[in-house]
Amino acid sequence: MNIPAVTNEDIIRYTKMFNKLNPALEKLMEETNQRTDVLPCIQRDTACFLQFIIQREKPLKILELGTAVGISTITMALVLPENGQITTVERGHMFVAEAEKNFENFKLNHKITQILGDVTEVVPNLQGDFDLIFQDSGKQTYLPLLDDLVRLLRPGGLLIADDTLFPAMDLPERNQKSQRAVNRFNQAVFAHPRLKSFILPIGHGITIAEKDKNS
Ligand SMILES: C[S@@+](CC[C@H](N)C(=O)[O-])C[C@H]1O[C@@H](n2cnc3c(N)ncnc32)[C@H](O)[C@@H]1O
Repeated sequence: MNIPAVTNEDIIRYTKMFNKLNPALEKLMEETNQRTDVLPCIQRDTACFLQFIIQREKPLKILELGTAVGISTITMALVLPENGQITTVERGHMFVAEAEKNFENFKLNHKITQILGDVTEVVPNLQGDFDLIFQDSGKQTYLPLLDDLVRLLRPGGLLIADDTLFPAMDLPERNQKSQRAVNRFNQAVFAHPRLKSFILPIGHGITIAEKDKNS
């Protein structure tokens, strides 16, 4: 099911006049969100925000959890510095293959390394220092992986998690487990002694947290 954004249609229409995206990416995003065989990709506003942050921060090392068919990866890779690298983790074989083709079509393979596997098994074995981590995998993985993600971030690095306003949204019963999981994640992020955090009400909600610069 395509979950609507937290912002209303008027706001989405208005911001669309200013927040621009690569047309080919926008087309792929729209096509993907019509499909029922793949989980929804990031919302358009979320993509624009990610690009803004990446253009500002110029991260060289990004870790992404939850590639699906690669929309958010492409979003970030398009504005990543030429010597930047994204490592992205996905457990669905079919998605990994489709994402690879999408990366080829956008001529972005040289900036992206895919890992096929479960994030709960892959992440504990990774080593830092990542400048930015984008968490968009299964919502049940958010809290269990939080300490590992903080470990993997460099001091001053950014953790960005998608769908973090799920708990405040009126969603069908099948999403209630995710809503509770995300709520527990937000509670832990905001209580974390090494993170300074903010929830942004765009897309499905984004939690953005900066790791303590002195840690
Ligand atoms: C919301 S989709 C990601 C969308 C993608 N970030 C985008 O915006 O284009 C979530 C993805 O996480 C993957 N996923 C869920 N739990 C996972 C896990 N434990 N390990 C690896 N991948 C997982 C799913 O297969 C799905 O493709």
